[in-house]
Amino acid sequence: MHIVFAASECTPWAKTGGLADVVGALPQALVRLGHKVDVFLPFYRQVAKLAPHAGVLVPSITIPFEYYNRFIRVLDGGKTEGVQYYFIDCPELFDRESFYATPSGDYPDNAERFGLFSRAVIEATKILGVPDVFHVHDWQASMIAVYLRSTYFFDPVFRKVPTILTIHNAGYQGWFPPQTTPHLLLPWDMFTMDKLEQYDNLNFLKGGIVYADAITTVSPTYAQEIQTAEFGSGLEDTLRRRSGDLVGILNGVDYEQWDPATDPLIADHYTPEDLAGKKECRRDLLHAFGFDGVHDDTAVIGIVSRFATQKGFDFIAQAAEDLMKENVALVALGTGEAYYEHLLTELAERYPQKMRVRVAYNNVLAHKIEAGADIFLMPSRYEPCGLNQIYSLKYGTVPVVRATGGLQDTIDEQADGSGNGFKFGGYSAWAMLDAIRRALKAFQDKPTWTAMMQRGMRQDFSWDGPAKEYVKVYERTIMNRS
Ligand code: ADP
Ligand code: GLC
Repeated sequence: MHIVFAASECTPWAKTGGLADVVGALPQALVRLGHKVDVFLPFYRQVAKLAPHAGVLVPSITIPFEYYNRFIRVLDGGKTEGVQYYFIDCPELFDRESFYATPSGDYPDNAERFGLFSRAVIEATKILGVPDVFHVHDWQASMIAVYLRSTYFFDPVFRKVPTILTIHNAGYQGWFPPQTTPHLLLPWDMFTMDKLEQYDNLNFLKGGIVYADAITTVSPTYAQEIQTAEFGSGLEDTLRRRSGDLVGILNGVDYEQWDPATDPLIADHYTPEDLAGKKECRRDLLHAFGFDGVHDDTAVIGIVSRFATQKGFDFIAQAAEDLMKENVALVALGTGEAYYEHLLTELAERYPQKMRVRVAYNNVLAHKIEAGADIFLMPSRYEPCGLNQIYSLKYGTVPVVRATGGLQDTIDEQADGSGNGFKFGGYSAWAMLDAIRRALKAFQDKPTWTAMMQRGMRQDFSWDGPAKEYVKVYERTIMNRS
């Protein structure tokens, strides 16, 4: 089968979060199953830095807008592990400092940027080869599903080609003013509440949900949650209408990148059979954060996260005073919304003996935290899948999580300590504190703790299983279209 992926992020080229990890790894797993996979990405400035010599495959494609045309090129990103990468080059839209926004807010032309990206991918496949299926990710690539079925762009070569939309986060939808509709050459009759309109705005993700042949999301629990008002961010009715075509497939993780037995970014290697190296990683982590004299009995709690409301930092702020009375050392790495950057920095200033924060995007430090911490904290308000808790399991860093989405599906707490972590429900800082205290108590009981670490480390969340689930979805949708 020939599968075309389209997404706004993909490791190693462009990453702000887990979307990039998934788009980096799933295509390779599909290739291992014998499929042909092409991945399309915008040629951001950062991608250009990593691939300065990418050759030109298609020198010019015209993408019309209401009052003017833009011209794009398709560049060859080469092949890695059998996956072919293509870049959509349009310097006016993508040669910028960041992917989506400046510190003062989203780029005002994001509709045009990702509308163009979606159309460019379709046009490029007409030249490079029409696939058997399009697999598009999040709002930034959703419009592929829409354009393929819009009367204006209708092309019979795509009649039998289904689109699968994967929702990595229903909280980000791509909302734009109504005038965007003609600007993107979409007919006004698509601007209705049962299609692209969401309360007077054009909504890219909604368009994807309505027009995709199948919708997947990144954990079974989140697939249920987004059909409710609490988690659907306004799209719950649209999603419920598509519930027969909506499935939750738990993300895998890439153990080539995230395995303490081989990880080149950590201070020492270790396995469930020989945990000695983790001590060195802990020392190295504490050193990296400038902590001195942290006792072996002190639990090192790690956080690696986008700093966003989704991630539950307000619980940490509310519980900070009590948490800091416990025998803990907390290290947090993240960047994102200024509000949370300040909040966490201020907390660290208030408790310098107990808490350190690094406001940065730093992959090496992310690996060091996974390896060196004893506990990984993820109190997310919602979490479609979450990869860090799965990495933590592999690194013997016991997760404490809120029971939502993929956190609910991957972390199992048992009263007798026979699970792989700790979790709490409700929206309460005190419930979080309680779960942390349960973890701290277990941490003092070394045999139970070591067994829990080893249990997590031996779990297998590799991509092979999930990749097969995706193939079933592709096959089903292809059959339904033929
Ligand atoms: P989300 O996609 O919602 O941000 P995930 O847990 O799925 O959450 O994935 C987050 C990914 O981004 C992980 O690979 C994590 O290591 C990485 N990450 C997040 N913040 C940072 C950071 N500040 N520095 C380095 N890596 C980060
Ligand atoms: C999103 C979600 C996260 C998920 C990731 C990859 O960014 O917030 O939970 O793991 O996508 O699917």
